[in-house]
Amino acid sequence: MNGEAARIVVMATVLAGCGPRPSPEQRAEGAAAFATVQQVFQHPRCANCHIPGDAPLQYDAGLPHTMGVARGPEGHGAPGMPCATCHGTANSPASYGPDAPPGAPHWVLPPPDQKMAWIGRSAAATCAMVKDKGQNGGKNFEKLIEHVSSDSLVLWGWRPGGARAPVSVPHDEFVAKFKQWAAAGGPCPAEQAGAG
Ligand code: HEC
Ligand code: HEC
Repeated sequence: MNGEAARIVVMATVLAGCGPRPSPEQRAEGAAAFATVQQVFQHPRCANCHIPGDAPLQYDAGLPHTMGVARGPEGHGAPGMPCATCHGTANSPASYGPDAPPGAPHWVLPPPDQKMAWIGRSAAATCAMVKDKGQNGGKNFEKLIEHVSSDSLVLWGWRPGGARAPVSVPHDEFVAKFKQWAAAGGPCPAEQAGAG
C-alpha cells in the first residue's frame, strides 16, 4: 500500500467513526439554513440580551436599559440590583400595562467572560462563535439544539408580553433550520465583503 492509499484508509476509518460525512450539497444547504438562524439571533427579542456591552437593551430599537441596570459579575445584575428585582419568572399581567417588566425563568444576561454577543456580527462570525465551546457555555450541537428548542429565555421570544413584537420567524421553522445546520456539521456562510 503506498502512502496515499494508506492515508485514504485512515481517513475512511476516521470518518466511519463519526457517522456519514455531510455531502458538499448538505454543507451548502446547512450554511444557507444558518441565514434563518442569524435572522432570529439578530431579532431584538434575542439580541437585547446578546450584547457586547455591559447593560441589556430594550425595545425594537435596542435602546439602553433604563435605571442604570448593569450585567454585574455573573450576568445577574449588579450586586444590590439583580434582574430578579423587577423581572419575574413570567411576564407581568396585562393589567400592569405595556411597560411592565417581561419575565421568564432564569432572566439574566450571559456572564461577562462569555458574552455570547451577536449584535454587529456578520452571519459568518456569529456562526463561528455559536459553535465554539469556548464561547457558548461549553455546548455541543446536541446541547445547542436542546437550548434553542426549549430554553425558557428562547421560548420567551415568541411570547414576549406587553406590546412587544415576537420573533418574526416561527419557532418550529427556526429549530428546523438550526437542526439542518447542525446535522451538516455547522458549516458557516462565507464572509461577505462589507458585512459585519
Ligand atoms: C433575558 C436575556 C436573554 C434573552 C431574551 C435571550 N437570551 Fe439567549 N442566553 C441568555 C443567557 C443568560 C445565556 C447563557 C446561559 C445559558 O446557557 O442558559 C444564553 C445563551 C444562549 C445560547 C447558547 C449560547 C450560544 O451563544 O450559542 C443560545 C443559542 C441562545 N441563548 C439563543 C437565544 C435566542 C435564539 C433568543 C431569542 C429567541 C435568546 N437567546 C434570548 C440570555 C438571553
Ligand atoms: C429596576 C427594575 C429592573 C431591573 C433591575 C432590570 N430590569 Fe429589565 N426591564 C425593566 C422594565 C420595567 C422593562 C420593560 C420596559 C418597557 O417595555 O417599557 C425591562 C425590559 C427589559 C428588556 C427588554 C425586552 C425587550 O426586548 O424589549 C430586557 C432584555 C431586560 N429588561 C433585561 C434585563 C436584565 C438582563 C436585567 C439584569 C441584568 C434587568 N433587565 C434588570 C425593569 C428592570
